[in-house]
Amino acid sequence: MAARKIIIDTDPGQDDAVAILLALASPAELEVLGITAVAGNVPLALTAKNARIICELAGKPDTKVFAGCDAPLTRKLVTAEHVHGKTGLDGPQLPAPQMPLQEQHAVDFIIDTLRAEDAGAVTLCALGPLTNIATALQRAPDIAPKIAEIVLMGGAYFEVGNITPTAEFNIYVDPEAAAVVFKCGTPLTVMPLDVTHKALTTAPRVQAFRDMGTEPGRMVAEWTDFFERFDKEKYGSEGAPLHDPCVIAWLLQPGLFSGRKVNVEIETQSALTLGMTVADWWGVTDRAENALFIGDVDAEGFFALLTERIGRF
Ligand code: BDR
Ligand code: CA
Repeated sequence: MAARKIIIDTDPGQDDAVAILLALASPAELEVLGITAVAGNVPLALTAKNARIICELAGKPDTKVFAGCDAPLTRKLVTAEHVHGKTGLDGPQLPAPQMPLQEQHAVDFIIDTLRAEDAGAVTLCALGPLTNIATALQRAPDIAPKIAEIVLMGGAYFEVGNITPTAEFNIYVDPEAAAVVFKCGTPLTVMPLDVTHKALTTAPRVQAFRDMGTEPGRMVAEWTDFFERFDKEKYGSEGAPLHDPCVIAWLLQPGLFSGRKVNVEIETQSALTLGMTVADWWGVTDRAENALFIGDVDAEGFFALLTERIGRF
């Protein structure tokens, strides 16, 4: 079977970095048409730089990386240096990237690619705030029916919030963009905190990356060493949740995950619950289903997949 064509929209971030490595390690299944950077964990200049650092680490400097929106649709950017460090990729020292940033704006790349490809040919993988994707949908509504699927990391239901008591970071940063995406009519698969908080690193899982004896293996181990201190302190959990790699793992091995088709609406008004993903998990409204909301993962299988793929570098 031909590889599935994907665009990865991202704000790297250590967990975004692992997701990108997982995709680039899987060319038989995934053809990465481009990586589109968005402002999120850190400002755009850093996410665009980090995306290229990761491609070079993967030995794929020909990957096309585009810079997109530097701020949410209507709000001031909120960043997460408290989780990811000043650079967004704090932990190991990595050289500045040599590969160029593409000249085209990420939003134009998304629009042009979807228009050029057959309907249903391209899947969008969203690992950060949804600003680039929402802007593309607003500017070119004709692309919505051409997208095969949007698979995104964002939101929460039972786990509620990580940046406010009720909101997950990616949705909170740009709730208006999330509302556009959740209303666009394209099939959506959502990896909320409910599932990503089950994809936790442990000492043996991190050691498996370190034992690879390769640069990418060492980087993944050191990134997670850095990144996990935040969740350990906050949740008392054993390790770090690898949020964004769940998106790519879903494309490679959907059988690792389970969830429900539900209606999800985004809170864009309330100061108290801004960015909340109001998921009708129990079907108590007659609002139409618009998303497959994932709730569980086979964590052992997930880490086995990650280790096998990252071990290919
Ligand atoms: C999400 O926010 C970011 O900090 C991570 O990269 C992930 O995409 C988790 O809430
Ligand atoms: Ca991210």
